[in-house]
Amino acid sequence: MSVAPISVATLAAMKGRGEPIASLTCYDASFARLLDGVGVDMMLVGDSLGMVLQGHGTTVPVTMDDMVYHTAAVARARGRALVVADLPFLAYATPERALNNAARLMQEGGAQVVKLEGGAPMLETVRRLTEQGIPVCAHLGLLPQSVNRIGGYRFQGRDHASAEAIRHDALAMQDAGASLMVLECVPAALAAEISRTLSIPVIGIGAGPDCDGQVLVVYDMLGLNAGRAPSFSRDFLGSCGSIESAVRGYVEAVRSGAFPAEAETPY
Ligand code: KIV
Repeated sequence: MSVAPISVATLAAMKGRGEPIASLTCYDASFARLLDGVGVDMMLVGDSLGMVLQGHGTTVPVTMDDMVYHTAAVARARGRALVVADLPFLAYATPERALNNAARLMQEGGAQVVKLEGGAPMLETVRRLTEQGIPVCAHLGLLPQSVNRIGGYRFQGRDHASAEAIRHDALAMQDAGASLMVLECVPAALAAEISRTLSIPVIGIGAGPDCDGQVLVVYDMLGLNAGRAPSFSRDFLGSCGSIESAVRGYVEAVRSGAFPAEAETPY
């Protein structure tokens, strides 16, 4: 394992070598130190913190101040892993807002990449951010910030039209300059096809085993959401004695292709 700090170029090189990227969400310094030390490649300061830390029912109430606070805590403890931070709900409603808020995540929070949800309507914003030297992680498939429009946390891309839209948006996001992509809750075959087609790394969550990497909400993979964890997650702590060995088990399972298994690939 290389000890050089990971950049978006490192992740692209891993994709080129067919080396799976192991990623977890992370919201504080203690977890950041642990995840980084165990070899997690990318720590995502996700706006899922609104649900797992703050107790909200959705990610919609999460603010920029929340994201800057948690990103800074993670970035202070970072050694090698890439720190990616979510732009929260409406923080990128216009390209100008996106630029200002991405600047906050990077300058005040220490993020190295910013993530935003959505396809075609976000292309101009992705272009503006990347023109300014800001690496962007696109997020397609299930878009949790749009849960009130979608009407629930449902798998996406299961019919022809919706799969076609995701395929099209994925290519357009790459063309607009995105450096990474998260694909959430889409059928495994669609995720595999997109991962093969794109040159940028595609990190799946609930998207089957054939993506360039995997990400899970760290509290889900530690069994903290027992009874409420999504069907594509796995409790890595239940069968071992410490959080550290659970995270190590996750990293090894992603690298060997043992996670996700069929049971964690609903579609
Ligand atoms: O906010 C988050 O944790 C995310 C992951 C679910 C990918 O976006």
